Amino acid sequence: MKNRLILVVAMSLVMADATIAGDYFNGKKVYAMNCVSCHGSNGRSMDPSVPSFADGDALFRPDQDLYEQVRSGSGTMPAFRGVLSDAEIRDVITYIRSL
Ligand code: HEC
Repeated sequence: MKNRLILVVAMSLVMADATIAGDYFNGKKVYAMNCVSCHGSNGRSMDPSVPSFADGDALFRPDQDLYEQVRSGSGTMPAFRGVLSDAEIRDVITYIRSL
């Protein structure tokens, strides 16, 4: 019984991994207004404790994970739930993936 439940959860995670299509140009605006102060222009952060996106390392995770990170925050990064709409979060992820 328990195994079956785990399988169902795993399957829904796989399905949730499908790349989220967002609007690059809107994402760029959202980034400039909300993220650039920490993550830097072009995703090159000046603070070693803040991940850079330019080298791609920090983004080697499914969109859904990044989405949750932006919604919930982590460490010194604030949560953007209630600040950005779901669509804006998708757009900004599309943008940072392009850096
Ligand atoms: C106040 C500074 C700050 C702001 C503003 C900020 N971040 Fe962050 N961000 C961080 C820090 C610090 C971490 C590392 C958190 C950790 O290690 O737990 C992080 C981590 C991340 C990660 C995860 C990278 C990884 O794989 O570890 C993503 C994605 C991210 N930020 C996206 C964004 C986006 C998109 C915005 C704008 C909507 C944003 N951040 C705004 C400081 C910030």
